Parts: sequence; structure tokens; C-alpha cells
Amino acid sequence: MTRGGSGFGIAQLPRIVRGRGSYLFDADGKRYLDGSGGPAVFCLGHGHPEVNAAIVRQLDDIAYGYRYLFTSSALEALTDTILRACGGGFADIVYTGSGSEAVESALKIALQHFSARGLPRKRHFIARQRSWHGNTLGALSVSGFAQRRRAFEGSLIDVSFVSAANAYRLPDGVSSATLAAHLAAELDATIMARGPETVAAFIFEPIVGAAGGVVPAPDGYVQAMQAVCAKHDVLMIADEVMCGSGRSGTWRALQHEGIVPDILCVAKGLAGGYIPLAATLVTARVAAPIHAEHGAFMTGHTFTGHTAACAAALAVQRIIERDRLLDRVSAAGATFQQALRLALSPFDEVGDVRGRGFFIGVELVRDRLRKIPFAPERGLSLDIGARAFADGLIVYPCAGNVDGAAGDTLIIAPPYNASDAELEEIVAKLARAIGGALGAG
Ligand SMILES: Cc1ncc(COP(=O)(O)O)c(C=O)c1O
Repeated sequence: MTRGGSGFGIAQLPRIVRGRGSYLFDADGKRYLDGSGGPAVFCLGHGHPEVNAAIVRQLDDIAYGYRYLFTSSALEALTDTILRACGGGFADIVYTGSGSEAVESALKIALQHFSARGLPRKRHFIARQRSWHGNTLGALSVSGFAQRRRAFEGSLIDVSFVSAANAYRLPDGVSSATLAAHLAAELDATIMARGPETVAAFIFEPIVGAAGGVVPAPDGYVQAMQAVCAKHDVLMIADEVMCGSGRSGTWRALQHEGIVPDILCVAKGLAGGYIPLAATLVTARVAAPIHAEHGAFMTGHTFTGHTAACAAALAVQRIIERDRLLDRVSAAGATFQQALRLALSPFDEVGDVRGRGFFIGVELVRDRLRKIPFAPERGLSLDIGARAFADGLIVYPCAGNVDGAAGDTLIIAPPYNASDAELEEIVAKLARAIGGALGAG
């Protein structure tokens, strides 16, 4: 339990007591507008009566039927709902309790797939710099996040890292028109250097979250990377733990690109923070050899497919569908992003405002023209996050997106049902926090 200090630079944590809609209330009665869903979790806000009622109904019936003994209506209906929302392409779902476990399952399913096909040498993973896939040892091993890896180096598995894909920060000598081809060539060379017969999967975030401050895949990137993976019989794992479940305006972020990855991880918005739930989705092509050779996926945990968690997620997803909230996220996301851009335009230090739907990143730079970041010791993003919090706005500050240490971004990820007035409040308070932090030098 944390007492006192916190990760976001807030000296003394307030005690949370209540949440209603887009607002949270602490024990002193102070109100906070949830402008980032914590880390992009609370897609329906807090205390939604229909979700709460669905959970209570499930608890009254049965909290959890253990997965090796029972299935349940909640699990089956949720599975149908997710597979439909994905727009087709997936055959199986493995449920877990966190994004890290969903990633861990994806890595293991990739390995099991090749074992089942009689290709047990395919063991190696390729991931990207400036990425975050989770805190368990496997998920941390594929994460390109220096600060979070440092204390564990030496025990992480051997993973190859290719460049981040960031249209705002192009590699030397590369234009936005040649970026996708450049990065695909790098992946191809990395696979060839390692030996295609040893490479199992490439894992990436279609829209980078905490490690980049919302970095959408550049145009043509996913298509080019998928072609390289297919050429070498390497599976593509899309980690949509943060950007998926509707956050970007489509249920899967990669629906925007028209791409179905081999394995997909979702978590945060799936049950909207009401009960922990994550899922790893698998295409029939990947699952078939596993079913034929081993019968079932050799992954999962005691609480896999927890019934009350599935009931919570089912209620969340039904409300999103019924209230057409993805249309809302898509349409309002564009105007919200425009409003943020306008409100932040007086600040030369705002280098980039980007993202899709209700998943928006703001990047701050010391020199806008040359995109030079502030010194990490300045702690600018944490300073802005703390000022916003003091002013009753929750945003998600991220540091280190440029080189692992320097770089300041803020993630804005409001609930999908946030009102226009609440979005305006986010814009005004964020501008005030940024102005205050920059003014303080
Ligand atoms: C893209 C991505 N993958 C995986 C994870 C790990 O999820 P969890 O913290 O639920 O284990 C996160 C968490 O922030 C994430 O953003």
C-alpha cells in the first residue's frame, strides 16, 4: 500500500470515497473530473447504476464458477459480444485479470502455436522501443521502457527491439512518406539477422500509450509490418490494452487500418474499471494447431473468466453498443482534439496534439522547431499532472517518451459518455495547468 508519495508526483494521496459519472470525490469533498480514466480505464465513468446492478445480480446468483468446471451465461454472452464488436476475424478468447496477463497469454499462445506445428525453435520475440506491455516478467521483457526495466535487467528474457513508429519524431533521413517502408525494412532485417526459423512473434501497440503519450501508427505502417511478419511466418500481436475496447472510436484500434492481427490483447476499457478483466483474442489460424495438438491453450489462471467480471464487462459493452458511444467517441473526439489544439496554441512549448477518438496525447518540448525535450530533472509532465489534480482534473502524465528519460507528454482519455460541458472543462483546466507549470519555469 502506498502512503504519502505516489507515481504522479502528488505528495500526499487523498482518500477516494465516491464516483458519479465523470467525477470522483475524495474524503474532504473535493471533486475531480476524470479526464484520463486513470490510465484510460473508466470508459463509462463511475458508479454507473446499470453496471452496478448487473454486478450485484451476478453476485446474488453466483460470484464465480471455476473455469474447469463451469461455463456461464455472462462469459458466453460477453464472448459473443466481443467477437462481434471486433468485426470478425477472431475465434477464441482467453480471459485474464490484467493487461500484463493478457500480454503474457499472447506470448505463450504464440509459442504454443509453433510448438503445436512442430516448430519449437520459433521462440524469439521482437518488440519496439518506447513501448509498454506490462509488469510481469514476460510482458516487461518485451517492453521498451528503460526506467521500468532497469531494476530487473539481467533476468528479463532476450528480446530484439526495433524502432518506435512515430510520425512526429522521424528517424534521421526519413520522411513521413518513407517511414512505413523504412520501419518494415528494419523489421525484415532484424528477423533475417536472428533467423526467421527462430522468431515467433512481433508485438506492438497500435496506438502507443504510456511509453509514448498516445502515438498512433503512421500511415501504411501496420500493413507494411504485417506483410513482413507474414513473409517470415512470424505472428503479429497487437497490444490494445490501452487503445482498444472503443477508446479510439472503433472497438479495435486496428479496425481503423482494416487489419486483423494474429493475436489481440484488450483490457482497461473492457470492463471499464468496475471489476478487473482482460482478454487475449486468437484467430482461428493461430488456434487451430493448438486445438489439434494440445486440445486447449496452456495458459490462464485461477480467476480466468471470473463470472462477476464477465457480467460487469457485458453490462459495459451493452451500454456502449446501445448508446452508440463509439459514434460519440469518434465524432466528439475530433472536435475535442481540435478544441485542445486551439486552447493550447498560445503555448510554444506544446509541440504536438495527436490521437484518435477519446485517446489524445499532448507533447511538450523546450524547442518547438527542433522538437527538443525539456530536461528530465524538470519533471514537467508530472508538474502539469499535479497542478491539474490540485485544480480538480485528472490527466495522465508520462515521462521519457523521447529517449527513455527525457520527454513530457500528457494523456487525455475521458469516459466515452462524458458530456460536452465536461470536455470543455478538461480543455480549460488542462490549459491552466500547462500555463501554470510553464510560468513557474
Ligand atoms: C499497452 C499496455 N499493455 C499492457 C499493460 C499492462 O496492463 P496492466 O497494468 O493491467 O497489467 C498496459 C498498462 O498500462 C498498457 O498500457
